[in-house]
Amino acid sequence: MFDLDQFIADCRAALAADKSHRLVREVVARAVSDPAVVLKGLGEPSRSVFQPLYRSSDLTIANVIWAPKMTVVPHNHHMWAVIGIYTGREDNIFWRRVPGGRDGKLEAAGAKALSVRDAEPLGRNIIHSVTNPIDRLTGAIHVYGGDFFDPAHRSEWDAETLLEQAWDPRRAVARFEEANARTTKF
Ligand SMILES: [Fe+2]
Repeated sequence: MFDLDQFIADCRAALAADKSHRLVREVVARAVSDPAVVLKGLGEPSRSVFQPLYRSSDLTIANVIWAPKMTVVPHNHHMWAVIGIYTGREDNIFWRRVPGGRDGKLEAAGAKALSVRDAEPLGRNIIHSVTNPIDRLTGAIHVYGGDFFDPAHRSEWDAETLLEQAWDPRRAVARFEEANARTTKF
């Protein structure tokens, strides 16, 4: 059975032993290696949501449910992250600033398709956008090596112009609600 308190304690112990994402990734990988157990513990996803499960200055754990075909614009975190998929799929595009570009303009640098049981570490300087490419909800445990909701000069990039702007945590969370509204229209 997936015990959230134990998972949080395991992540805290991993972080205490190694400030990088290395040991936390192992904790997340172990959890999503049995996705049915995580589904039972966190509940079958019913709607898109960014649900914080634990928040502190050096660690944030969230249950992230992506709406069908939902995409979030490119953004950075300024902290490492680990993404563990327990149902569905996530496609990540990785971006970099255009060398010598203006207004933080981005260009695509790579991509990674994540599937159930994957536990993917993201370095602290990563810029990524995320799409749920399938027709049903995707569920993932996201662990961040810091306080996810502390903006601290974080950025996002306009989906059309790929130009940089300030990241707003309320806006980021509201996007999940907007995705729900779109989904129910189908
Ligand atoms: Fe992200």
